[in-house]
Amino acid sequence: MRIKDHPILDFPPRREVAFTFEGRELIGYEGEPIAAALQAAGIRVLREMPGGRPRGFFCAIGNCSSCYVVVDGRPNVRSCIEPLREGMRVSRQIGHGELR
Ligand code: FES
Repeated sequence: MRIKDHPILDFPPRREVAFTFEGRELIGYEGEPIAAALQAAGIRVLREMPGGRPRGFFCAIGNCSSCYVVVDGRPNVRSCIEPLREGMRVSRQIGHGELR
């Protein structure tokens, strides 16, 4: 689910890195926003609000809290601006987030 060819934009080669989401192994590009890698994998729900309401991308520039995920046990990570790194353990944030 990525744009690979574009009439005026170039996509230089990027290094692929492995990471997990909810324990599922995925591949993304080093340095791209975590949310971009998740979108490319077809994952749209990034967090659940209290009461179970799902949330995904909203502003995509780090100004809201819609895309919060838990990264390596750290809650409230804005996945739309956090660069993807090799070996990250990412999970959906449920509620307001607690340290794990
Ligand atoms: S989508 Fe708004 S902070 Fe990430």
